[in-house]
Amino acid sequence: MASKYQASRGTFDVLPDQARKRARVERTAAAIFARAGYEPIATPIFEDTELFERGVGRSTDIVRKEMFSFEDKGGRSLTLRPEGTAPICRAYLEHGMHKLAQPVKLSYLGPFFRHERPQAGRHRQFHQLGIECIGADSPLADAEAIMLLSDLLGELGVPGLGLRLGSLGSLGSRQAYLERLKAHLRAHEDQLSEDVRERIEINPLRAFDSAEAGTREVMASAPTIVEGLEGEDAEHFAAVRALLESAGIAYEVDPTLVRGLDYYTRTIFSFDCDVLGAQSEIGGGGRYDGLIEQLGGPAVPAVGWAAGIERILLALDEEEERAGRDAFVAIADDGQRARAMALAVELRHAGLSAEVDLAGRSLKGQLKHANRIDARRVLILEADGSAQLREMETGEQRPVDPGNLVDEMTGGES
Ligand code: HAM
Repeated sequence: MASKYQASRGTFDVLPDQARKRARVERTAAAIFARAGYEPIATPIFEDTELFERGVGRSTDIVRKEMFSFEDKGGRSLTLRPEGTAPICRAYLEHGMHKLAQPVKLSYLGPFFRHERPQAGRHRQFHQLGIECIGADSPLADAEAIMLLSDLLGELGVPGLGLRLGSLGSLGSRQAYLERLKAHLRAHEDQLSEDVRERIEINPLRAFDSAEAGTREVMASAPTIVEGLEGEDAEHFAAVRALLESAGIAYEVDPTLVRGLDYYTRTIFSFDCDVLGAQSEIGGGGRYDGLIEQLGGPAVPAVGWAAGIERILLALDEEEERAGRDAFVAIADDGQRARAMALAVELRHAGLSAEVDLAGRSLKGQLKHANRIDARRVLILEADGSAQLREMETGEQRPVDPGNLVDEMTGGES
């Protein structure tokens, strides 16, 4: 019976089949993060709206159009977090983590919210997992971050991956570049799409992302930031590249790569997956050396990334085997219900998985159900207190002592 209520547009329920697949992704990520010394952190689902306006940037699509913002009862503007980096930097400052040994290496996982047009791989509530390495400006930190995402996607078996790499330079050189880019855009203003034209002054980089034919033509001859990198910015980028090469990680330098958040400096990267269609970016990130200062803290360099869990699952599109049960405790007589439950609990305490009938089925119905849930063995409690243990694969059945059930069940294990 369909209910008149449905999950809100752009949101979805995670049903058990999907939850099993997610659990594997999360376990794999947690193990990779832990091995590299990235410790879990969790921040609230909502934050002051201003954190994202300042952190992500007022000119970005995220802040301009995609935030789920609301007023609380005290008239304060709050926003469901559209991303995790600004909140983690806020937490880093709030808890004085800049006084700890640097860098502080953090990992996270959870739901994020953006009011986007839903399509395959794009939702309004989605889940990211990611890392932030705060307090290191060495190219080693950039390379380590990229390697961790590469390891994760590799270990999960994501097919058709490509890594694009770019550099935005440091804040100073970026400013000089942006002036050159704006001059180029202004010179070709009449060929640009309205959206790009409106944002020449506030966010000229986004013009590289445009799909509109006229704008693309203008951008084909636009100066790129990678070509113009100088001094320490050029050295940093060369060092990141050399580290990736010596780690055997294939990449392509994409001088037109831009990202949808304003905080990036120097390295930016994106892992794309060619089985994903339009929303092909599975994960990405970069360096954000100015963000913590922007939020009112000291100048602390940092780098990190996030990957979309739904996009990873979409790319994998494989079934996670459902775990069967070690045992089902069935009853031939209603009087044995409480005893069946006690025995199942005893098995669970011994570390085995065990279920009992909760639906008042006949013995035949219980055996059918045990089969359905892939129980390897069924214990049948008779009215007189005796018990039979049935091997579901062979149908073999033998009397057992229910007082000694755990031994019976674990002793038979090979
Ligand atoms: P982002 O590129 O906006 O970066 O998002 C990271 C990933 O989240 C994307 O590559 C994509 O897989 C997934 N994602 C984004 N939006 C959606 C959506 N509407 N539906 C499904 N998946 C989505 C960030 O959020 C940065 N905080 C990453 C970062 C961390 N940079 C430095 N540190």
